[in-house]
Amino acid sequence: MNLCIVNGRIVDPTQNLDAVGELYLAEGRVAAIRAENVSLGEIPAGEWERIDVKGALVMPGLIDLHVHFRDPGFTYKEDMKTGSAAAAAGGFTTVCMMPNLKPVTDTPAAVKDLHSRQEGINALAVGAITMGQKGTELADIKGMKEAGACAISEDGRSVADAGMMLKAFRAAAEADIPVFDHTEDDALLGTEAGEACLAARDLILARDAGAKLHLCHISAKLSLDFIRAAKAAGYDVTAETAPHYFVFDKSRATHGHFKMNPPLRTADDVKAVIEAVKDGTIDAIATDHAPHSREEKEQGYEKAMNGVIGLETSFPVSYTALVKAGHISLFRLVELMSSNGAKILRDENRGTLKVGAAADVAVLDVETPFTVDPAAFRSKGRNTPFAGMEVYGKTLLTVCGGNIVFNDMQ
Ligand code: DOR
Ligand code: ZN
Ligand code: ZN
Repeated sequence: MNLCIVNGRIVDPTQNLDAVGELYLAEGRVAAIRAENVSLGEIPAGEWERIDVKGALVMPGLIDLHVHFRDPGFTYKEDMKTGSAAAAAGGFTTVCMMPNLKPVTDTPAAVKDLHSRQEGINALAVGAITMGQKGTELADIKGMKEAGACAISEDGRSVADAGMMLKAFRAAAEADIPVFDHTEDDALLGTEAGEACLAARDLILARDAGAKLHLCHISAKLSLDFIRAAKAAGYDVTAETAPHYFVFDKSRATHGHFKMNPPLRTADDVKAVIEAVKDGTIDAIATDHAPHSREEKEQGYEKAMNGVIGLETSFPVSYTALVKAGHISLFRLVELMSSNGAKILRDENRGTLKVGAAADVAVLDVETPFTVDPAAFRSKGRNTPFAGMEVYGKTLLTVCGGNIVFNDMQ
């Protein structure tokens, strides 16, 4: 059945559109938009299911460049079904799944296996850079790209050997696939310098190889200074941060739910991350959704494993801490959480509500405050630092490829 979302505040920076009206979705695509002074596309004949969203925000489906779904290998933490359900509940229609699984996603067959098990949303495989993420033998990067991998990454760790990383950048350039780069020097683990050193190294190496570099979960002012300078010098680089890095400083790092890698930084770093989100040094907000079991997270800060979940809090936390707080516009947030992700993935059919684009849509209530309650999460993970926070931006409806994948309309 075709779907018509009625009475939505349709916001799409790719068309400079912010108007209350109707969004028509047919055959998995955006068919038409009708609003005051706006008439885009043709409304096809046929039956329409009409959903009145009563003024809620209607935007392109959210895109998360960085999640851990733990499947295969660690399905007690999360699996394809619960991860995808958590994504849909957060308004996400596309996510990129990091390869630190068991087995590691390091072959074309592993990429295909993940894609054959998708559950409602576009869960895209990121291939490993080296076999088994061991850092010694390059994976079949071209083969994984041909199998449908959206990027390559060694996430969870870095490629320590600069020579190996240069080879990887060359292979990625050749295969025309972006590199999602976890930058941390093993010898300087957890420090600002460790993050910035490898960010600087890889800016240089990727430039040398002509590769497309995307820097993951940037948390430190020092790294941002280098990224800003590189962008000004014309380097082909993009960068993401995660909500916990612009909300919390390291004074909160006393409970396992505030432990992740890279770790929370100083109040100055938090300010620098917000500044970078504002001035375009940061291109995307990703979650680094990293579910762990209760036992793995609740035995004190020192023993806790690294990682926090984020899919079901990312939009409301970002909306509240960035838009409501007056740092950025709603347009800019939609870019950071959807349109720019599509650009980084080089997918012209997503991150936009242009006629003909994929019918991937998020409908969110940004007027009514609510309290983050981990007990209500679809994720198996409960390891969130945002529990109890009052936020705006509850998901009401998520549509992926024209199908309703989450519906909390009253
Ligand atoms: O905190 C983290 N958790 N950082 C990583 O790099 C890996 C991730 C995980 O897989 O749990
Ligand atoms: Zn990482
Ligand atoms: Zn990660």
